[in-house]
Amino acid sequence: MIKKETIDRIVETALIEEVVGDFVQLKKRGTSMIGLCPFHNEKSPSFNVSPSKGIYKCFGCGKGGDSISFVMEHEKYAYPEALKYLAQKYNIEIEESEITPEYQAQVDRRESLYIITNYAAKFFETTMWGSPSGQTIGLSYFRERGFRDDIIKKFELGYSPDEWTALQDKAIADGYRPEFLEETGLSVKNDSGKVYDRFRGRVMFPIHNFTGRIIGFGGRTLKTDKNVPKYVNSPQSDIYNKSNVLYGLFQAKKAIRDVDNCYLVEGYADVLSVHQAGVENVVAASGTSLTPEHVRIMARVTKNVTILFDGDAAGIKASLRGLDMILEEGLNAKVVLFPEGHDPDSYIQKLGSAAFKTHIELHQQDFIFFKTQILLKEATNDPIKKAAVIRDIIESIAKIPDAIKASVFVRECSALLNVEERILIAELNNIKLTKAKKVYNATRSPQPDSPLPDSPQLDSPLPDSPLPDSPLPAAIEPDSPQPEARSPITDEYQERELIRVLISYGDQLVNWDGMTDTYIGPYIITNLSDISFNDKLCERIITYYHDELDKGIMPTEKTLIQHPDKELKDLVISLISSPYMLSANWYDMHHINVPDEKVNLKATIMGAIFHLKKKKIATMIATKQKQLQADNSNEQELQLMKEYLQLKEVEKYISNYLGSVIIK
Ligand code: GTP
Ligand code: MN
Repeated sequence: MIKKETIDRIVETALIEEVVGDFVQLKKRGTSMIGLCPFHNEKSPSFNVSPSKGIYKCFGCGKGGDSISFVMEHEKYAYPEALKYLAQKYNIEIEESEITPEYQAQVDRRESLYIITNYAAKFFETTMWGSPSGQTIGLSYFRERGFRDDIIKKFELGYSPDEWTALQDKAIADGYRPEFLEETGLSVKNDSGKVYDRFRGRVMFPIHNFTGRIIGFGGRTLKTDKNVPKYVNSPQSDIYNKSNVLYGLFQAKKAIRDVDNCYLVEGYADVLSVHQAGVENVVAASGTSLTPEHVRIMARVTKNVTILFDGDAAGIKASLRGLDMILEEGLNAKVVLFPEGHDPDSYIQKLGSAAFKTHIELHQQDFIFFKTQILLKEATNDPIKKAAVIRDIIESIAKIPDAIKASVFVRECSALLNVEERILIAELNNIKLTKAKKVYNATRSPQPDSPLPDSPQLDSPLPDSPLPDSPLPAAIEPDSPQPEARSPITDEYQERELIRVLISYGDQLVNWDGMTDTYIGPYIITNLSDISFNDKLCERIITYYHDELDKGIMPTEKTLIQHPDKELKDLVISLISSPYMLSANWYDMHHINVPDEKVNLKATIMGAIFHLKKKKIATMIATKQKQLQADNSNEQELQLMKEYLQLKEVEKYISNYLGSVIIK
């Protein structure tokens, strides 16, 4: 067990902004810092870090806590692992009291997988530096390829002996369990049940996770035999998922953050060479093509990616389409092409790092222009092919979430393609409209047997869900039309219920997010700023409440009962004296006992706010649908659909929220 004093020191020393800052790009905003939440996928930041309080909180997904819980959540560490991670980061010596059997038992399976993988990495490394075959075969291979010893050490490269069970025998003799060797794929079992080492006679590239723990390997053969696969990689395991690990990111992340750019290359060898050339902000997708998860992971460290392409024309054309997802994730993508037959590694080894850097400087260009040029080359003098190219390019541009950026590309591509800008814009709108229609139809008619997924992918150019600083949606425009509601529970009913909880609990102090003490009244008022009330009396109470708060006075049940305005006073009294009548139906609906409403005050208040917002949103959605049925121009239709989808997103958010509040 880790001693209490050590834990205290770690807690005191670990600064939340530094701990989080290793994973999330934070920007200062007032006294706190803000960034993109690492726990859910978002495009505009709702992840808050408060250095003074030592805590983080995401207003999008609700996750929150201190440095230790951040590391636990982010790295999926158990408590002691998280402490060890922080201790290492801050050079704090861990003092452990005797390891108890309970602690032993606590060290979970994942930890065992990390341990065995790390053991294997050390084994490969020692074999390479310390054994005759390791030195003459493995080490000399790396050196002959031009890798310096410091780079070989930095990336913890190694060599696996050319024997069937070298690793396995040693590991088992050292007390490691065979099952963990198999689970991490270090051992494989053949059909006849024989178990042997996966990596044999290969130079080994350990793959690190973001925090530097080794989670898997790539092993390169030294044979030139075409029948032997060049690379063998670790299989997926509980600790290794190749679609979300970037090779070299651990060694590169600091440099990526410093220069705010990331180079993306294709192979392990490229990462090593580019790094060795002094360009340390370089990563590769290891043993797989780039996935959206890879891009999202990169996006947390920088928004600028430069793809370094091997000079092989066929390969480039094939990968162009896949790279659109970089744009979709909102990153700025640049491209550098290397001369035919060269990859970054061979270029550097042949021409040196200075030439490499110059090449990048001179030849980098925006992904869209690069793509345009590549495609255009094949379409010269062929109008049909050219039309296809135009469509292809505009499709890429349509994926850029930032409208201003997209319009700049449209303008510049119109010059490159020699096509009038307005034609490109029309095509862009067309593509967007088709997409929006698809999403629109999916949200409208969820047919039980339809081949559509349960929750349709919103891949339209939607703005982010509207969650700036408050955990409540605030996307309802104050002056939008409010036609009569159709459900038995009217807006007015919901409005009065809200006023009731405002009057009853407004002057109570609560602390719901673990960060700030808030009075319920001002909290409600703030969160209603985007709502207009149908019931004029309710509106008056809200206005009164608001004005009093402005004067620094907290209205209470008592002051409201004594209000000089007779009508207002009557409503107040009737509301607080007959809560059951007003709310029974609603509470019934959500299985909350009305007498219990004080017990879970948060559910009560949030329920009141959100139910009202839900009503308002439903009315607005109905209005939008009506407008969509009218005759609209394409542009109007696109705009309406965007608004419609945005409202649907808010509605979904509210429903989700209500679900979670009610279940508690
Ligand atoms: P060198 O030939 O040593 O320069 O290797 P490289 O790292 O440049 O590899 P290459 O450009 O041939 O391939 C790019 C990446 O694709 C590699 O780093 C591997 O991640 C992956 N890869 C290449 N060959 C294989 C293979 O045979 N099997 C698997 N699973 N992955 C491979
Ligand atoms: Mn190569």
